[in-house]
Amino acid sequence: MTRRVRLVGIGCGHPDQLTIEAVEALKASSCALVTVKREDDPLAAARHAIIERHAPGLRVVEVADPERDRSARSTATVAGYEDVVTDWHDARAEAWEAALSAAWADAGDGSGDVALLVWGDPAFYDSTIRVVERVLARGALDFEWDVLPGISALQLLAARHRIVLHEVGQPILVTTARRLRAAVVDGAENVVVMLSAGLELEGLDDWQIWWGANLGTSDERLVAGRVADVLPTLLAARDEAKSVSGWVMDVYLLRRPRAVT
Ligand SMILES: C[S@@+](CC[C@H](N)C(=O)[O-])C[C@H]1O[C@@H](n2cnc3c(N)ncnc32)[C@H](O)[C@@H]1O
Repeated sequence: MTRRVRLVGIGCGHPDQLTIEAVEALKASSCALVTVKREDDPLAAARHAIIERHAPGLRVVEVADPERDRSARSTATVAGYEDVVTDWHDARAEAWEAALSAAWADAGDGSGDVALLVWGDPAFYDSTIRVVERVLARGALDFEWDVLPGISALQLLAARHRIVLHEVGQPILVTTARRLRAAVVDGAENVVVMLSAGLELEGLDDWQIWWGANLGTSDERLVAGRVADVLPTLLAARDEAKSVSGWVMDVYLLRRPRAVT
């Protein structure tokens, strides 16, 4: 009797973006856990649509996602932010432990695969792996686990714009909007930015940007060009995506202008 948790990368919202391996994992699971951040959570709805399409009838256990502290404590310093995230991961681990116990308790012989549907790829700006490690560290549950990769927002961005994220032989830095300034100061040439709450691109007028919002959905938006030229269009597209979909997630590549010799 094996208990296994499978972290299944599901791409960025469209049911066609799952790999065959991911689809097979959903079909073979006895239950799926879906985290729900709020009532009418559109990302939870996207997960339900994926299950409906690829593994109709799969039992779903919803887990209410604990709120993250967004008070001044979380934004004042990097250490403050990291503490808040640690507390949040602990709260999630507790919630998932209870949900996993319930999933296996209802599974007849108490075993089987439980699928956790992870947005994009679990390797990029996602806490699922860390939370599963914490659930195991709590010691109340014992299970095997594995990770099935998905299509990340950064891959989808590159595909939609038909670009390579870096020039020949050059590195890319993938970072958060919070750390973009540090990347620019450190001399990064190609910066992929995730987790932006808005776009603060002052001083980057001559950089090239390839931007995408709500990629993989029917409300996808794309803008590319020199930052100063396209920023008004881009901000309007961002607002539009948010008002049409009710949510907006965006990702962009910034490329430093070539020095004139
Ligand atoms: C919590 S991170 C999750 C990233 C995910 N694990 C991945 O591999 O894409 C959320 C960030 O991913 C990016 N993102 C996720 N889905 C997106 C989408 N459909 N369109 C554009 N950006 C997206 C945004 O930068 C967003 O702030």
